[in-house]
Amino acid sequence: MSHKITLIPGDGIGPEVTQAAVRILEATGLKFEWESFEAGAEAYEKYKEYIPKDLVQSIERTRVALKGPVTTPIGGGFASINVELRKMFELYANFRPIRNLPHIPTRYPDVDLIIVRENTEGLYSGIEHEVVPGVVESLKIMTEKACTRISRFAFEYARKNKRKKIHAVHKANIMKLSDGLFLRCSRNIAKEYPEITYGEHIVDNTCMQLVMNPYQYDMLLMENLYGDILSDLCAAFVGGLGFVPGANFGDHCAIFEAVHGSAPDIAGKNIANPTAVIRSALLMLRHLNEYEAATKIRNALEKVYRTRDKLTRDVGGKAGTSEFTDSVIEMMESAPSLEPAESSRV
Ligand code: NAI
Repeated sequence: MSHKITLIPGDGIGPEVTQAAVRILEATGLKFEWESFEAGAEAYEKYKEYIPKDLVQSIERTRVALKGPVTTPIGGGFASINVELRKMFELYANFRPIRNLPHIPTRYPDVDLIIVRENTEGLYSGIEHEVVPGVVESLKIMTEKACTRISRFAFEYARKNKRKKIHAVHKANIMKLSDGLFLRCSRNIAKEYPEITYGEHIVDNTCMQLVMNPYQYDMLLMENLYGDILSDLCAAFVGGLGFVPGANFGDHCAIFEAVHGSAPDIAGKNIANPTAVIRSALLMLRHLNEYEAATKIRNALEKVYRTRDKLTRDVGGKAGTSEFTDSVIEMMESAPSLEPAESSRV
């Protein structure tokens, strides 16, 4: 059997890092049929559409996509392709595990944190207008439906995966209605999961608490903007943006992508670290119930980091993206199984 997957290589470092993930996925021995599409500025140049219809139809068909980052113009231009895709397919749950791979020197060893971010509304609804010259409004949309379903997602994940604590992150002291609604929904859902400790922290305090002691948290549940910002902050615990994978889940389909962006400063140089996209591919394999292949990739990654002679520049090595990828593939052939196939580690 082969898996049909929609592939969005993206731009900037996107094509380099997704290519690395595709090579590694294919080296597992599983069969994949890739339906590859451009999105964003490149797509617009060719098709006069930022998200081509064929891409939309492909995701509707395959229900699973692996995506590289797509550049969004700053302060004008077209809306974020990432945000649009998440809204279009109601990918309401953004799931980001923050875990150290062993043997990477970081400020904090053994971090194991999960960020669950609401992905479809909040300030990212993109409803902005100029009221009068010099005055603009940006609307923060929060609905009971979306706040409840993201809380349900987080608590269900915690229950299934034996996580112990969830903290809702908010600013309801100032945004009493919008973040207040988020908290009310979280509290209601929390009552149904008495085995999971529920707490609440204000977002600015959470940033300080995280930097002081990230081990005090287990899972963090939050609305869109806070989730975006805190994901990058937490990436620094585990080696930087080259390491943190992500998944966007809806009821009907899922898109897997790293937390990082298109990194224009290092694009086209074969120096980006593809680990975050490889780990996103690993989340995708688990979604497809391909646990053994996922474990094989994870073990190989771990071995490459333990061996240390093929690391990328962001972690002090000299290897290029493709050399690092070759090394992971070599290790896949020799890496022993270090953990049970159903492990949820990335
Ligand atoms: P960025 O994540 O692209 O880069 C931030 C810093 O991290 C840069 O110094 C970059 O070189 C480094 N970095 C990122 N990924 C790396 C990797 N794999 N290996 C080594 N170093 C890495 O964030 P930035 O600069 O804020 O955004 C650039 C563009 O990406 C923007 O247009 C933004 O909108 C877009 N973006 C797209 C995302 C997506 O498609 N899901 C997510 C985040 C940003």
